[in-house]
Amino acid sequence: MTEAVGKLLLFGATGDLSQRMLIPSLYGLHADGLLPAGLTITGAARSEHDDAGFRDFARAALDEFLPADRHDAASIASFLDRLQYQPLDASTLDGFPALADKIGDVSGGLAIFLSTAPFLFEPTIKGLQSVGLAGDTVRIGLEKPLGHDLASSREINDAVAAAFPEDRTFRIDHYLGKETVQNILALRFGNSLFEPVWNARGIDHVQITIAETVGLEDRAGYYETAGALRDMVQNHILQLLALIAMEPPARFDGTSIRDEKVKVLRSLRRIEAAEVPHMTVTGQYGAGAVGEKIVGSYADELGRPSTTETFVAIKAHVDNWRWQGVPFYLRTGKRLAARQSEIAIQFKPVPHSIFADRGGQLQPNTLVIRLQPEEYVRLLVMAKQPGLDREGVRLREVPLNLSLDTEFAGTRRRIAYERLLLDLIEGDPTLFVRRDEVEAQWQWIDAIRAGWVANDVKPKPYPSGSWGPSAGIALTERDGVTWTE
Ligand code: BG6
Repeated sequence: MTEAVGKLLLFGATGDLSQRMLIPSLYGLHADGLLPAGLTITGAARSEHDDAGFRDFARAALDEFLPADRHDAASIASFLDRLQYQPLDASTLDGFPALADKIGDVSGGLAIFLSTAPFLFEPTIKGLQSVGLAGDTVRIGLEKPLGHDLASSREINDAVAAAFPEDRTFRIDHYLGKETVQNILALRFGNSLFEPVWNARGIDHVQITIAETVGLEDRAGYYETAGALRDMVQNHILQLLALIAMEPPARFDGTSIRDEKVKVLRSLRRIEAAEVPHMTVTGQYGAGAVGEKIVGSYADELGRPSTTETFVAIKAHVDNWRWQGVPFYLRTGKRLAARQSEIAIQFKPVPHSIFADRGGQLQPNTLVIRLQPEEYVRLLVMAKQPGLDREGVRLREVPLNLSLDTEFAGTRRRIAYERLLLDLIEGDPTLFVRRDEVEAQWQWIDAIRAGWVANDVKPKPYPSGSWGPSAGIALTERDGVTWTE
């Protein structure tokens, strides 16, 4: 099914994600003429708005979250014309007939975007089914959290599958909508240079870091039950790992790419309980300063003590031929020193240095893929420092720089959700996560959590504004590896 739909229905339309991301993204697509003509957008949520009230809400969201240069009164007015609203308590079937009336005929296709509390997933699906809003012309996009472990994710997936077959189910991982993440594919499979050394013979180790400076924000209810492992590693970091580690897919399509990703996810070496204390580190932020800002501890923000981890570092392995013996160091945390996400590929040293007798020191090459805040790909290579070398050859690591920000300066950077919403509307599943991937991800994560329980692992405190607990640094240093910063 690849035709664009004529209608879009947003559950959770007055929520935080909608306000910050979905409405600005839909507007961005609308303003550039990318939404199908006549596409209507129906918001549904518990709040008691009418159409006009929802349009006011959307206008306020655009005022707050749209970059100033994107404001265009005429485009905003025509965008708001697309919007309508139906108040709905999704926990009972009662309100669904009115929703179906509001939406009307769906023979021209309906895309649903579900961004609600997980306990509403099943009743919402049942409600949609009860009024004929789950037929062949309807596809559904699901925002996380899709469960908190393998069993609960299966339950949700089963409930969805009872109404929507897999080819009409679009699971969102917004990292896949990021331009630099898609660039991993271009880098790996659009160049002949890297692939011959992209394996255990060429690569010493891989690091994946997603560091954030934000704290709990207003998400205590969710975050306290999730923690960094489920919030960031289970989805975003494992997806990045899969894109880095997968075999070359034969085509750029949903089946080929997801087939290769799932093989990697299934090849992740299970971390047994006895190994968990050596292979993982957890932390929780205390008070401190992030940049200039003095901030309180996680427990202060929460209002009580907690054992939820806001930082996690893991030494992972992919057990297949390509990656045998290559550690993948993963780390993410809140209230860290900088907002910085990157993947660093550390290549092996040259087999023999011809410079050693002349005093020249070599560093192995590193490829850094910076996802944010800047977007660049940087290859660190050895160069000779200019000079007559009377006191020995002096070599230095210098960057070969591909700045995507500079190189594509004229091209507007889109919010990840612009891409994903358009793909959902048009029915392209390539950048959505398939059920088998999600389940492989949970399987690996659940073993780690079970190990934490078995060993009574508690997060170690770290000051806000640092790079996490010192054990996170020791995790790599004992292997002679330093985190890139
Ligand atoms: C979300 C997490 O999935 O990703 C948040 O729930 C996190 O806790 C966010 O802050 C990070 O996304 P980005 O795009 O800002 O890196």
